[in-house]
Amino acid sequence: MYFEQYHNNNNDYNNNNYNYNYNYNYDYYYETDNFKLINDDTFKILPRLSDSSFDMIFADPPYFLSNDGISCHSGKMVSVNKGNWDKLTSLHDKHNFNKRWIKECYRLLKDTGTIWICGTLHNIYSIGMALEEEGFKIINNITWQKTNPPPNLACKTFTHSTETILWARKALKNGKYVFNYELMKNMNNGKQMKDVWTTGLTKPSEKTQGKHPTQKPLEILEKIILASTNKNDLILDPFCGSSTTGIAAYKLHRRYIGIDNEKEYLDLSIRRYKEIEGVQELQELLQ
Ligand SMILES: C[S@@+](CC[C@H](N)C(=O)[O-])C[C@H]1O[C@@H](n2cnc3c(N)ncnc32)[C@H](O)[C@@H]1O
Repeated sequence: MYFEQYHNNNNDYNNNNYNYNYNYNYDYYYETDNFKLINDDTFKILPRLSDSSFDMIFADPPYFLSNDGISCHSGKMVSVNKGNWDKLTSLHDKHNFNKRWIKECYRLLKDTGTIWICGTLHNIYSIGMALEEEGFKIINNITWQKTNPPPNLACKTFTHSTETILWARKALKNGKYVFNYELMKNMNNGKQMKDVWTTGLTKPSEKTQGKHPTQKPLEILEKIILASTNKNDLILDPFCGSSTTGIAAYKLHRRYIGIDNEKEYLDLSIRRYKEIEGVQELQELLQ
């Protein structure tokens, strides 16, 4: 829905005459004009990218919730563990981890750019703190309210049914940043959009190419990209997983670079990209 509304107002997306304004001397795992993937540790790659080269950064970092507990998926009891990348070490290590990559993101982001970071109670307080420590100002605290959260099997807490998405800009005096306010209002039937976004978990139709354990819904990424970027803007995802960010960016005619150290997830990203690439080109030809 968001895509359609945006699409009708923007007709010159076929103009690809822009340059990637960053200095990166490294092999891409996969590369097209607008969709690039890097397979390595994000802490090795981020320092190699140039200052002020990205218009927006979206990050869905490890939540550090893989504590050998249980959860429920499709009516079955399953482990909450996502992978070794999501294992908690110590409180100190968790905060250091967040400070390190957020510091790099401050350097990589343009002064007019913004950063969005997802999390749950397991990591979001560290992230909020790290953002302010590294020179960001939080603009909004978005709550993603899930319409169909998994039930709480242990029955010792309320059902966990939300995630938080922090949206921040550089804390510069008189700093300006992109916010497509009117578009957001139009998408919300003419009323100001609020900071609670209600939507379901990632749909099975978005998992036809395989599964990532923490794949985000496309609808959320499309809204984020439409709210805070313009056509042809360059978006970075330093923990890209199955590249939901990249798929939304491609659909909305933005440029994308995703980094993940697991090849399996980048292969899934490529399959997702190829799945929509042909369809998108056909739609554009028919217009
Ligand atoms: C929460 S998932 C991101 C999911 C993604 N938003 C999606 O929709 O598919 C975090 C990802 O970060 C990757 N990751 C964790 N630590 C990393 C590191 N140091 N360098 C690169 N990737 C890392 C994991 O492999 C995992 O795919």
